[in-house]
Amino acid sequence: MAQNRIICTTNDVDYLSIRKAMVAGARTVDEVVELAGVCAECEGCKSELDGILSSVCGCKNVSLKTVVDAVKNGADTVEKVGEVTGAGTGVDEETGEECGRCKVLIQNIIDLGR
Ligand code: FES
Repeated sequence: MAQNRIICTTNDVDYLSIRKAMVAGARTVDEVVELAGVCAECEGCKSELDGILSSVCGCKNVSLKTVVDAVKNGADTVEKVGEVTGAGTGVDEETGEECGRCKVLIQNIIDLGR
């Protein structure tokens, strides 16, 4: 499970703020600049933004491309995307509880088709 941390050191923007921007529809660096306020130019932005933007489910290591492809191929619910890709089906190894943190993002990808 990824812990929250500062990604953009110039504007003090953390990982969770970037993920929230993605849930609001941001898929590109320019959109994260607009929605989360990152600078896109500091070392943190340069080294981490692309990786954050390309990942949907950290538990199952499922990329945005994989989820978008699943949606384009007919997976039209969070459950169906999980069946096809594994995204959203992570379980905390210590507690045995479902993670599900990425399900809101998966729903947004279904809604936007990207
Ligand atoms: S990030 Fe944990 S289930 Fe996707």
